[in-house]
Amino acid sequence: MKVHKPQRESIGAEVLDLDVKLTSSAEAIAIKELVYDHKLVIFRNQSLNEKQYLEFSQKIGTPQIYPQDNYHHPDHPEIFVSSNILKDGKKFGMPGTGRYWHTDCAFLDEPLPFTMLYPQIIPQSNRETYYLNMELVYEKLPAHLKMYVEGKYLKHEAKWRYKVQECDLDRAIIDIMHDFENRFPAVQHPAVITHPVTQKKSLYMSSGFTTGIIGLDYETNQKILQELFSFMERDEFIHKHKWNDGDLILWENRTLNHKASISVLSEESLNYRIGVYDGLPFYVSSPSSVNPKTITEALAS
Ligand SMILES: [Fe+2]
Repeated sequence: MKVHKPQRESIGAEVLDLDVKLTSSAEAIAIKELVYDHKLVIFRNQSLNEKQYLEFSQKIGTPQIYPQDNYHHPDHPEIFVSSNILKDGKKFGMPGTGRYWHTDCAFLDEPLPFTMLYPQIIPQSNRETYYLNMELVYEKLPAHLKMYVEGKYLKHEAKWRYKVQECDLDRAIIDIMHDFENRFPAVQHPAVITHPVTQKKSLYMSSGFTTGIIGLDYETNQKILQELFSFMERDEFIHKHKWNDGDLILWENRTLNHKASISVLSEESLNYRIGVYDGLPFYVSSPSSVNPKTITEALAS
């Protein structure tokens, strides 16, 4: 497998010569190692139908079935559809997903380690997805902000991002919110997480889903969270991927935040996402807490 690796401190390795339909088990291991080392892997010129895309994800790990079925592809529930088009005259997935900084499923007890994205229709005028290198953010975090996250837990929740559906018509907003909160209660994760394989530390938070630092009062929370978001969303930490037709991307949510670009409403857009569990804990509490055998087994699975 021929790979173009990024410069030090930048993200994104590019696999130059692989038709992912033909991925061998040795190549699947190499791909996972690339994701752990470079956070994001690009496969160019792919041509896959839904079934082949799903089969590739199964070689990398276990595909997620997203907990809200209005995002599901009608024939393949593992495929999360983001689109503003109709299929057979019917709504197909959800429009305008992920236009804010976030990591996928941070609001669940077991967040999603990997995300694959394989756009089917890319809008002409805005063809970018943005990433934040959260390992680098942690490394550069100034001491006056580090003291607020080191050893602390953060609260993550998705209720402010819920998209109202047809079934919510005629219901009070407070009832819709309560139902969502009952289904997806807020969770807590360490503010600084240690990667199970590389053992490197990342700041694990996002302006999309993180709503509090546990143990701080409301006013201090508002002030410090805003300072943290302003610091981490600086240009120096942003990586841009400009999509070409046929690109398939695999990235790691442990170390990256991401954000979709805002497309012009009149332009068609269709994206297929598959979330993948890699068989490892999302984070470990200390470097010694993961068994090397577990890593070997997860790589080989
Ligand atoms: Fe996302």
